Amino acid sequence: MSNNKTEKPWGGRFTAPTDEFVEHFTQSVSYDKRLAHYDIMGSIAHVRMLARAKVIEQGECDRIIEGLSEIDKDIEAGCFNWSTGLEDVHMNIETALVEKIGDVGKKLHTGRSRNDQVATDIRLYLRDEIDQVSTAINNVLKALLTKASEHTDTIMPGFTHLQSAQPVTFAHHLLAWAEMLLRDRDRLADCSRRLNLLPLGAAALAGTSYPIDREYVAELLGFDGVAHNSLDAVSDRDFAIEFTSAASLIMMHLSRFSEELVIWMSQASGFIDLGDAWCTGSSIMPQKKNPDIPELVRGKTGRVYGDLMALLTIMKGQPLAYNRDNQEDKENLFDAVDTVKMSLLAYAGLIPSIVVNSEAMYHAASSGYATATDLADYLVVNGLAFRDAHEAVGQIVQFAIKENRTLAELTLPELQEFSAIIKEDVYSVLELEGSVASRNHIGGTAPQQVRKSIDRLKQQLND
Ligand code: ARG
Repeated sequence: MSNNKTEKPWGGRFTAPTDEFVEHFTQSVSYDKRLAHYDIMGSIAHVRMLARAKVIEQGECDRIIEGLSEIDKDIEAGCFNWSTGLEDVHMNIETALVEKIGDVGKKLHTGRSRNDQVATDIRLYLRDEIDQVSTAINNVLKALLTKASEHTDTIMPGFTHLQSAQPVTFAHHLLAWAEMLLRDRDRLADCSRRLNLLPLGAAALAGTSYPIDREYVAELLGFDGVAHNSLDAVSDRDFAIEFTSAASLIMMHLSRFSEELVIWMSQASGFIDLGDAWCTGSSIMPQKKNPDIPELVRGKTGRVYGDLMALLTIMKGQPLAYNRDNQEDKENLFDAVDTVKMSLLAYAGLIPSIVVNSEAMYHAASSGYATATDLADYLVVNGLAFRDAHEAVGQIVQFAIKENRTLAELTLPELQEFSAIIKEDVYSVLELEGSVASRNHIGGTAPQQVRKSIDRLKQQLND
């Protein structure tokens, strides 16, 4: 007997309609409709398998696929009527299918549950998104390498504690960001590899008594294999957490980069300018041009960390197997995907707009006693123990600060007051160019090494 109190596909055992509040509170369709295309992909593979296993007839399978494909197009064209009463994307599509093709549509859900269905949908969705995020990383990497190629000989102060430390080349500094992003890309590939197993077939939690062929479904959907335990398959959200964790690291890197851009663009530093098209102004101060894009990326980093914490917390108290808590995974995951993609997109546009003020960089490097270590190393090469050399140079720096001169501006007799072993050739190590050129080993800041690094990174970009 049909139940006329409720239109829910699960309504059979219910005698009263769902409370309006409960309907509103339990629905996920307002956001999980984003999974529609993947839901349909999964359903098509499922019915293909059912027909092959002779659980349904081939003709039934064909009609279901035809109906689902039309629904896919309707959704894509924006002419699909989503109903909150039908709870989620899965029941909306299934109900529309029955409306479209009649009772045969009711066979779609044979041997399947929304629990394994949704787990499959999210994996398919995230697999595609990971590809997109990786492409976005590549675009940032390309922009970094292009900018770095223009600045292999541009000298700036390198910092520790945000104090001028030793001279580095600007390209070397940019390539540090490239190394981070390469690791990020690698982490995503790793996440994608572990994610790419099929949960479908786990059904509600225990598997199904139909003669299903999970390997065939996995093959149709491009999975590398099947998830091996049905309880784990429906309840596992590790892959979402792994992605959001990788996304958090990407955001952390972009946030640190943002911090540097903001500092470099400040009047106090003046190392760079950002193109007008990539900055915004102030509604009150007519002179202002603000680095809002890096600031927003820095700010959005908190959202993604929040998404990660939310996902970890959603999972921590759940007994096996599926619990409705899992529905709460989506908004955080979607937000992390959107935010990291947008932030990478911002950086791919922002980096080419960086205008370098190489005089300001050079001036900051030469006035910050950045070659003091080179002078100490010079003394060591000429026979002093490093600790004694460190002490002598410390005194030279103190003298130079008092005199308000750079190290290279001190005369030879003045330098010799502090150590008799200093000779005329000392000036070659006090110059910034000599300092950076001498760090000529793998990982060093010498222009020659940096050019090699650019070539290597270009190669890795295409791997
Ligand atoms: N919308 C749910 C989710 O996103 C899937 C439905 C599972 N519902 C259930 N009663 N087992 O997780």
